[in-house]
Amino acid sequence: MISRNTIDQVYETARVEEVIGDFVVLKKSGSNFKGLSPFSQERTPSFMVSPVKQIWKDFSSGKGGNVVAFLMEHEHFSYPEAIRFLAKRYAIEIEETEQTQEEKEKANAKESLYLVNQFAQESFEKDLWEYSEGMAIGLSYFRERGFTDPIIRFFGLGYAAEKKDHFYQKATKSGYSETYLLETGLVMKNERGAVDRFRGRVIFPIRSMAGRVQGFGGRILSNTAKTAKYLNSPESEVYHKSRVLYGIYESKKAIAKEDVCYLVEGYTDVIQLFQNGVENVVSSSGTALTPEQIRLIRRLTSNIVVLFDGDAAGLRAAIRGVDLILEQGMNVKICSFPEGEDPDSFAKLHTQEELQAYLKNEAKDFIEFKTSMLLKEANQDPVRKAATVREIIQSISKIPDPIQQEIYIKQCAAALEVSEPVLFNALAQEQNKKHKPVRKIQNTTNEKQSGIQKIPQQDVMVNPLLFLEKQIISILIQYGDHEASFDELIVSSDAEGNLIEESKTIHTKVHEKVFLDLQQDEVEFIQPEFRSLYDQLIQAYQVEGELKLDKILQQEQPDIGKIISDILLTDEVHQLHDWEKKNIFVKERESVVGQLVSETILTFRRYLIDEKIRSLLEESETTEEGEDASEFLEDVMQYQHLKKVLSKKLNRVL
Ligand code: CTP
Ligand code: MN
Repeated sequence: MISRNTIDQVYETARVEEVIGDFVVLKKSGSNFKGLSPFSQERTPSFMVSPVKQIWKDFSSGKGGNVVAFLMEHEHFSYPEAIRFLAKRYAIEIEETEQTQEEKEKANAKESLYLVNQFAQESFEKDLWEYSEGMAIGLSYFRERGFTDPIIRFFGLGYAAEKKDHFYQKATKSGYSETYLLETGLVMKNERGAVDRFRGRVIFPIRSMAGRVQGFGGRILSNTAKTAKYLNSPESEVYHKSRVLYGIYESKKAIAKEDVCYLVEGYTDVIQLFQNGVENVVSSSGTALTPEQIRLIRRLTSNIVVLFDGDAAGLRAAIRGVDLILEQGMNVKICSFPEGEDPDSFAKLHTQEELQAYLKNEAKDFIEFKTSMLLKEANQDPVRKAATVREIIQSISKIPDPIQQEIYIKQCAAALEVSEPVLFNALAQEQNKKHKPVRKIQNTTNEKQSGIQKIPQQDVMVNPLLFLEKQIISILIQYGDHEASFDELIVSSDAEGNLIEESKTIHTKVHEKVFLDLQQDEVEFIQPEFRSLYDQLIQAYQVEGELKLDKILQQEQPDIGKIISDILLTDEVHQLHDWEKKNIFVKERESVVGQLVSETILTFRRYLIDEKIRSLLEESETTEEGEDASEFLEDVMQYQHLKKVLSKKLNRVL
């Protein structure tokens, strides 16, 4: 865990205008900097950075905050990743604390594994470009496959020499300890000594979302060799096959921007598509996607297009894996390639325009795709057709959103020539099979046992802001680490000042959403206890990774204890009740929580903006005419614009 001390030092040192300046072109404007929003497609700059206040605000999307919030939004870092990134940029040494000896050793060991991998990546890359064997064999192989030099560099591709301990010698000479060389699997030991795992292979480094090297894939160069075509790093503290996605680091920006992720099978598919202008692509390296990998993608988008090679046998098996993606609430499309082609060969044979057009036209909704494929196979045989219906219903039952389910049922009824009621019935049966009993919340008994007086809410909460502050604290305590889906409305303006809306569903942890949304307003919670509690909760979720309420309760702040118990004793069902009433469908918990969070925060922020505008206007009355006054006016206008955006979003949530 990063020490408070280091975090403070990072905040003291990092300059928001410098860090953002690395990602966005900024121009000086009065005492601020201005630029084009990196979060929407605007043409008039409404992205502001204030060096004085050390904050940024994007008036087109409503996002904003400090330098850490920028990195979390823009680079999709977690909080600790953002702190580490900044520490590195400003050469601040990271102090790890509050760890047991054992935890410390583990963290150090993990760090060492990353360092070894980093060294290996650089060394393989150097050998590809500068070592005669690497150039003659590796580089020419990549070039023959059609990879351009800039792409080879961008993906950090490399070459592992034939000699049995070429890498081992280099690494030990540079001072890397054998323990970590063995643990990363880069080196193996047998009776005759140390042997490199990767020998005579071209190397694909596999990077994490934050860009750290987790492991490698190595491909042999001839197709006739007896060993496996690809060799991968073995499982280790930093490489878990089920959690890595090849290309996620290189493609994350494009995935978020295009709001869709293409999924392919292999390393070379990723690179070839990327080179051909399809930059939002990742590979699960030859296996079906795991839930962890899906969650990684979901941090960036809810839309996946799975690209399949053109052989029918693999297709059927692969399609089974797709139910898992549906289960995670993602929208899935399928795009298959002509017989004998894979995305790599297809991209190489066609122009960018042809490739884009193919992906656009051939990507079929998964349920439709599966229906038509199975129907073709059933070939009017009634028994097989019945089996087909059951299989389709099974997939539909995995979709968490009931509205979407209904739409699919209607579509499939037509395609399968089965009546809608029959399909709804089959769906109900399928859902009964997996239905779990609902957890009942016993608030009354709880209250009696604990013996704490509950404060009647209405009496205490007169100021709406205080009520909202409490609601936010309560959300953080009860749902902080739940995953929820949020409908984000990105509102930007065109050259004439008309509002353009883009909508997008994001899935994220509630505490991240609250933190990022609240970052944007420079006003702190009014109630000092709420403010302190808010900081502690965020610290717990983001730095410690979990909320230990008893730890917070142990402090010598009796008021905080009172607030927490008050919140815990309030029936959570009561809080959600109104939300459920507003929906025709009783939505899944996830989206209900999402809605609760969105409405609370948007309402809170609108109040804050009102205050802000009021205080700006007051301030402007007391200042002299001139440059300052026009800046005030611009600020007020920007805030009014933001208020309009927030109201629009709020209307949509309600
Ligand atoms: N794979 C693997 N081990 C193997 C074979 C395949 O890990 N022995 C993984 C690799 O990630 C590979 C992916 O499965 O990229 C797809 O395999 P395949 O289609 O055989 O390879 P391609 O990516 O097409 O590789 P190439 O074009 O270089 O033959
Ligand atoms: Mn291939």
